[in-house]
Amino acid sequence: MIFFIGFMGVGKSTIANELSEILDINVIDTDQEIENLEKNSISNIFNKNGEFYFRKAESKLLRNLDSKKKKIIACGGGLPLFHDNMNYINEHGISIYLKADLNFIYNRLKKQKKKRPLIKNLTNTELKKFILNKIKEREKVYKKAKYIVNINNKEKKEILREISSLIFPL
Ligand code: S3P
Repeated sequence: MIFFIGFMGVGKSTIANELSEILDINVIDTDQEIENLEKNSISNIFNKNGEFYFRKAESKLLRNLDSKKKKIIACGGGLPLFHDNMNYINEHGISIYLKADLNFIYNRLKKQKKKRPLIKNLTNTELKKFILNKIKEREKVYKKAKYIVNINNKEKKEILREISSLIFPL
């Protein structure tokens, strides 16, 4: 299994989907999968059941993946941080951290706050602070990934080429 991890807004789902097309391997988006299983949006799940419930659902989903089957997994941004999930990921597949800097993430997220419960009520100034603090807190875990790919100022094609050469070195 190939796991994409990284902060909200870096494009994990997009890259995972494109790679899935190129390699003809199934893709699973953990947010999407939880929404399907719960028949509810992430935002509503947070509101109704709380973050702890959502984190438990993420961990359960992760452990229910069949590691014998080839799959690409786009992980929700917080997934690696809870319930020892990062170690589980590294024991069961190849992890790729899509790394972006504060401004890149800020510019992406300020346009798409609505569907993300952790940021939807923040002003832009608060959002910037939130990203800065969370990156500091989360990087320690994200950096346990087998590969780190910097995505700032790179075209999708270039990112995909870089990922391909990491997973299929010549
Ligand atoms: C979260 C990231 C989101 C989603 C939820 C919480 C986080 O996924 O799982 O809103 O804690 O960073 P994306 O990274 O796909 O936006």
